[in-house]
Amino acid sequence: MIRLDKYVSENLPCARSEAKKLLASGKVMVDGSIIKNGEYKLDENSAEVICGGKVLKSVKGLYYMLNKPEGVVSAVTDKEHKTVNDLFPKEFNKKIFPVGRLDIDTEGLLIMTDDGDFCHRLVSPKKQVYKTYVAKCTGELARDAAEIFKEGISFKDFTTKPAEIEFLYEKDGFIFVEVKICEGRFHQVKRMLHHVGADVVYLKRTAIGDILLDEKLEPGQYRALTEEELAIFK
Ligand code: URA
Repeated sequence: MIRLDKYVSENLPCARSEAKKLLASGKVMVDGSIIKNGEYKLDENSAEVICGGKVLKSVKGLYYMLNKPEGVVSAVTDKEHKTVNDLFPKEFNKKIFPVGRLDIDTEGLLIMTDDGDFCHRLVSPKKQVYKTYVAKCTGELARDAAEIFKEGISFKDFTTKPAEIEFLYEKDGFIFVEVKICEGRFHQVKRMLHHVGADVVYLKRTAIGDILLDEKLEPGQYRALTEEELAIFK
């Protein structure tokens, strides 16, 4: 059994205070009856909860897609900088953690969850989940960049697994490329691009496997993963 305000907050998702407001304004129905009391207890496996006309599905675990903004670190806590967890309501931001890391100046798709197994399936290089990035760069791309990426680049500390690069377009003196890698070493995309003559001035992750960054999300916004998106890695 779970409190109704907690259920609405976790499954809509929204802050607990927001859930309480929705309840007070009569927007939440449980099994056909409007319930205004947040303390009302329901069985999350059988109750049908409708909020503002939308049927809420009880999710086991917390899974969100965040459009990470620049200037925020991919960590749960940090003494100096705002963290990705700070972008979530405090009602559940202590439960979740980022799946992998993006540099402080990188934007784009970051998944946040409370499910360690799910996280492992996405980040382990053995699982070969390709992450897609779009980079804006200065410099000139080596002609054989695609072959170099495919064969792997030997850095002092590691050799990259086969990766892909595609030239997208050139604009205002910058080149735009798409890169796919299945690892997440420190500054990996920036280092690989530098190796083939391009220096990154802006980097954005646009996909993790078949989960694409929702273009409706502004930097700093998040939404729950859909059942279809979850099914890809469940
Ligand atoms: N590679 C990088 O260089 N930076 C990121 O943030 C992610 C991948």
